[in-house]
Parts: sequence; structure tokens; C-alpha cells
Amino acid sequence: MISYNDSTKTFKLDTPGTSYVMVLIDEGKYLGHAYYGKKIADDDVRFLTRFEENPFTPGNNPAEKQGFFDVFPMEYPFGGTGDNRAACINVIDKFGGEGLELVYKSHKIIDGKPDIPGLPASFSKRNDTGEGTAKTLIITLTDEILSLDVDLYYSVFDDVDVITRSVRVHNAGNDTLFLTRCLSACLDMDAASGEKALSFYGTWAREHQIEIRDITYGGEVTGSLRGEEGHDSTPFIGILSKNADYKCGDVYGMNLTYSGDFLGSVKKNAFDSCRAVIGINPEHFTWKLNPDDSFYAPEAVLTFSSEGLGKMSRNYHDFYRMHLIRSPWQFKERPVLINNWEATYFDFDSDKLISIAKEAEKAGIELLVCDDGWFGHHRNQPSGDLGDWFVNEAKIHGGIDKLANEIKSCGLKLGLWFEPEMISFESDLYKAHPDWVLSLKGRAPSACRDQYVLDFSNPEVVDFIYGEMENVLKSAPIAYLKWDMNRPLSDVYSNYLPRDEQREIWHRHVLGVYEIQERLVNEFPELLIENCSSGGARFDAGMLYYSPQIWCSDDMDPIERLMIHEGTELLYPISSMGSHVCKEKNDITGRVVPFETRALCAMIGTFGYELDITKLSEEDRAKIPEQIALYKKIQPLILSGDYYRIASYRETGKIYPGATGAYDCVMVVAKDKKEAIVLYVGGLARPNSKSKKIILDGLDPDANYEITPITLTGNPPDKKFSAHGSTLMNAGMLIHPENKDFFAEMFILKVN
Ligand code: GLA
Repeated sequence: MISYNDSTKTFKLDTPGTSYVMVLIDEGKYLGHAYYGKKIADDDVRFLTRFEENPFTPGNNPAEKQGFFDVFPMEYPFGGTGDNRAACINVIDKFGGEGLELVYKSHKIIDGKPDIPGLPASFSKRNDTGEGTAKTLIITLTDEILSLDVDLYYSVFDDVDVITRSVRVHNAGNDTLFLTRCLSACLDMDAASGEKALSFYGTWAREHQIEIRDITYGGEVTGSLRGEEGHDSTPFIGILSKNADYKCGDVYGMNLTYSGDFLGSVKKNAFDSCRAVIGINPEHFTWKLNPDDSFYAPEAVLTFSSEGLGKMSRNYHDFYRMHLIRSPWQFKERPVLINNWEATYFDFDSDKLISIAKEAEKAGIELLVCDDGWFGHHRNQPSGDLGDWFVNEAKIHGGIDKLANEIKSCGLKLGLWFEPEMISFESDLYKAHPDWVLSLKGRAPSACRDQYVLDFSNPEVVDFIYGEMENVLKSAPIAYLKWDMNRPLSDVYSNYLPRDEQREIWHRHVLGVYEIQERLVNEFPELLIENCSSGGARFDAGMLYYSPQIWCSDDMDPIERLMIHEGTELLYPISSMGSHVCKEKNDITGRVVPFETRALCAMIGTFGYELDITKLSEEDRAKIPEQIALYKKIQPLILSGDYYRIASYRETGKIYPGATGAYDCVMVVAKDKKEAIVLYVGGLARPNSKSKKIILDGLDPDANYEITPITLTGNPPDKKFSAHGSTLMNAGMLIHPENKDFFAEMFILKVN
């Protein structure tokens, strides 16, 4: 619901449980942010902007216009004219001066939600369910001197506590301008509402680690300068009240639907007001705006929860499932897959793949992914051949079509790996087009994994790569595609763009990726796409628009995955997390974790195997059908249930010295609360300890649940029990970890 009150000049946006209020101050000139939080009845909360306090509005006190700009809670702050906090927008004029002043011009309210040209964006209604609708408010601000119009888009959804924001900047004048900053959203609030900032850190094999810090006068910044968010960040910033945890406290989330460099920052000022902004990182950004050109900033997805981080996660999960992920696979059972990467690395041929497929079929696996190494002339190491997207018949005898058909006769479908954004110097493509590599003039570009980045700002390159992929995909029945990206951008110079557009490349690269994925989605609508970037370096809402699942991390050690999953699940649906059962001894950590625990942990995600099934013992192979049967049983919950975090390995590890006894526990509850699963995973066994009490969440307090424990250790004694939701959520239940390291147990709850 969106309303505008002309007498108070306030805009009020209401979601089912939240309100967002903006106000036009100073004779309707400046757009201020008055309130975002739990739903309120009144729209006239202008007083919250303190416009009647010193320094007053410029209309009342022209002598202190700069002071007003510097303290007023701006809805879309502009730089260069007095607001010295973080600006959302700044622009260089034809004289070289940088600064602008935005005032209200007009607004309209429309049904539905417009697309953002070239960019991923949420939509009003899912075609397959027809549920959920949106309305959009478009407020146009303008700089009268520059003839620059700025349209602020706000979409409000009737089924979830989310407000999306995006921006269109239009040069309506006769002079060329340069945008030096164009962020997507700002939230100004009293500092008491935001005491802490939540962001992410990490590295390869340790992605999406949660960090919570005090918001200080010095400010807290998160961001990326890698051309993607990278392993060490996520395009999100959370603002938390002092004691917020998974169940309690106020939480604001700002998550960007974008897959390139980003900036998120939050800072207190001397008046204890706090400004949070998010958008494309200005460090690598300048955009030339010729007369009549428009620039579109990516969408920011805002949510507010007064029930802690848990409700924030559920808001995001619901929203992304219902309003962002377009794939027809979103609510469909995903095939249980086996990927040959950690099974064989580059050392395979089609005979090896077929032998894997034969054993996989017996175990009930449905799809074989042929990972890196099937293409070019000699890709037997991570060096050479990127860009040469034709089959290497020395390895794949008789070609992809033959392989797909042989795999099919084993009863499986075939998936294929690509790394479309990259080029190797050792490749036919480089020989033909050396000018297609991003590379600073006169300097050899820095290698990473012995590979280089293609110039996706050049439409010819984008078109060529799409054509190569299209040829392969049309040549054989390929059911699944893994799109990888194994290095950050560097040496960013394009032979294609003129000098004054070089700082557009970082964003244009992302637009090129989106363009190819958009074409794939349209031409191959049934293709199941899994995005990936050297593990989980590009796990964001932008990529979810094209693929319903994303590879979460190359680290498949289930204990390491507890922290990686905790961070990922905070924002993204569990059905989007690519999650595989690894070998007995993990290749990255060297840790040996029981097969049962590896399998149970991988079930919180899109389940698959990444080991050489032909080398497993008969005994272990015999366990797989039971694991798959369990996953199939719980998959409807994984696809659409509500996620609750009960205990975090990250947190419990702090409680137990030496980390013995640390544990993790999550729940997924059906929307109708008739079914649920609980997964408990322990770390190192704690000697001489008692059972663990866990307090469940999200159940129907009045329903009586039958609870079936599952350890996958074969024919356990029937330990079923039953209890009411109110008991489980208040008194709790006990877990009796077996006397061993890395013990896992799943509980299936069903209303009696
Ligand atoms: C990246 C991916 C892996 C695998 C390899 C292949 O590291 O994250 O899953 O596909 O590339 O080179």
C-alpha cells in the first residue's frame, strides 16, 4: 500500500508489518526520510526529521543552507553542495565542477513493478503461482541547473515485508555530464535504532563469514573492488539494535541485487544520526551521460524485522523465492547430482565419466556434471584453452552429444561447466583476438590461475561468447550448466571504449554477464543453471535472477560449511545453496568426517555428491540410496519452508573453550507448520558431558508433533517420541550426541 498526503506532503509505504515514511520539507522542496520500522498508523511523522530545529530549512534560514544539508535526513543524498556525509549521487558538469542539488519535481504511483533495463530485478508476481503483487512509487527529483532528473523507484509488496529501491538518472539537458557516484539506497535514522552493523568477510574456502561491529563515528564500511563481490564480502549491510540476535531486536537489511563492485557503509554523525548507504562502488565508477541518456542503478532490497535476524532471513528467503528467482526450477525438485571435479579434477575422459555414471545410477543419482577440462585442445591443468568452447575429443571421445546419450542410457542427465568471462593466452581465441583481453596499455596483465578477463564492455565479445555457448548447448541434450568465474578483474582497460568511458568497464562487465545469462534463460528455459565463482565469490541476488542455485564454496568439509552456510542462509534461500557430499578426507582441510554427517549437512541446500563413487567401498555405496531417499523426502521443505537458526557453530564455539562441545542447529518448518526438520551437528566431542538442550522455533504451539530421529547409521532403535509445539519451543528437547567427533542427527517432525 502506497499513499501520498498532499496536506502534510508525506509519502507512506506500508508492507504487511512495516511502514516507511518520506516527507517533502521546505515548501515541498527537499525529500527527507522520516521513518522506517514496525507498522505505524499515522503518516504525519514529519517531526522526526527535526526540520523545526536549528539550522532550520533553507527557506526559513537561507544563511545556513549548508548546515541544513549536512544534518537533514535525506532520502537520496546528493554530494558537493553541503551534505558532507556519504552521498548517493554526484555529477561532474560541463565545466568540470562536481556537485548538485536535487529538489522534488513530481511523483506517480503505478500498479506492478517495472523491469530495470539490463539489470536483474525483482518482479511483482510469479507466473506459476500468481501470488503476491506490488505497487510502485516513482518520485522524480531534479537539478534545475543541470537539467538532470533522478527517478527514485520504491516498490511495495503485499505479501512480504520488503521494499525495493532503484534509481534512474536521466540527462534532460544539452550538455554531457559524468556521474561519479550513483548508489541505490540510503537510510538515515537515529543512531539508537542502529547500534551495530552486520557485514561479511572471508576468503576462498571460507566465504560468507558474519561480522557484527559497533557503528562508530568513524564509520563502518564494507565493499568490493574485484568486479564481483568476491570471497571476502557480500553486497549487504545490516543495521542492528544493540541486543539483536536471531530471535529478538530490530534489524534493517539492505541487500543489493548486483554482482559487481559495491559499497555499503554506515556512519554516525556528531548528532547521533546514522546514515547507511549501498550501491555500486564509486571507486571504479564514472559514467558518461550524453544528452538524453539514462543510467540505471541496481535494485536495493530493504527489509525491517523487529524479531531479530531470523525474521530478516525469512523475509529475504520469501522475497527471493517469490519475487526474484525466475527459474522454472525454483519450486521444482532439483536432480540429485554428482560432479566429477573433486573426483577426478582434470584427469578424466568420457570412459571415466561413464563409469561414474553407471555407479551413480545404481545409487539413485540423477545427473552427472562434467566439470572443468572437457574443452579446447589440452586442458589438463588450470591453464590454457579458456575461450575455446569446443569439445576436446581426445578426452570426450566422439563429442558431447555422444557423451550425453551414453550418460542418458545409464539413466542420468548431463551437465557441463563453462567459464565464459575468461581467456587463456594459450588458446585459439587469444591468437585470433588478442585485443579482447582487459589489459592496461604497455603492461602485461596480471595473471590469476594463469587466466585473463575478456573485455565484456565490447558487445562483439559478449555476442561471440554467447554464440560459442549456444553451439555447445544446442549440440547435445545438456540439462544443467555450471557458470564459473575464477578470478577478479584487474588491468581494466578496454581497446573498445574511448578514453572518457574507461571507468565504465567494471559495470559494463557485469552488464555483459547479465546479458549472456539473460539470453541463456530465454533460449534454454528448462536448463538448470548453477552459478559459481571459485566457490562462493559471486553469491548474490543478481545471480539468483538467472540461476536458482549457486555454488556456495569449494570447501565441502561439512564442519567448515556450518559457518559458510550460516552466513549464506542469513540472506539467501537454502534451496539456492549448492551443497555436495565430499570425500571421506576433505581435500581442503584434510578433516575426516563420517559419511552420515557429510550427507546430512549437504541436505541443507541443493544436494549432490562430489567424490569418485567408483572408488567408494561397497559398504559406503550401499548407504547412498538411503541418503537420497531422505533428501527427496525433505526436499519440499528445503524448497519452500521457513528457516530458523537454533544454534550457531560460530557462537557456540565461543562458549566452549577449546571448541569441544560446539554445535550447530537449524530448522526448516513448512509454511502450514505441519512438518519440520531439525538438523543438529556437533563439532569435536566434549568428554564427560551431558545431553544438549535445544529450544525449537517456528512450530504451532498447540499442535502435537511426532518426532523421528535420523542418524543414517542404519537401523537405529525406534526412538520416536512426541511433544507439543509449545513444549518444544519453551521447554525444548534433548539431543544425545554419540560419543564421537562430528556427530549429526536429523529430526523429522510431523503433526500427529
Ligand atoms: C572453481 C569451482 C570448482 C571447479 C573448478 C574447476 O574452483 O569453484 O567447483 O568447478 O573451478 O576449475
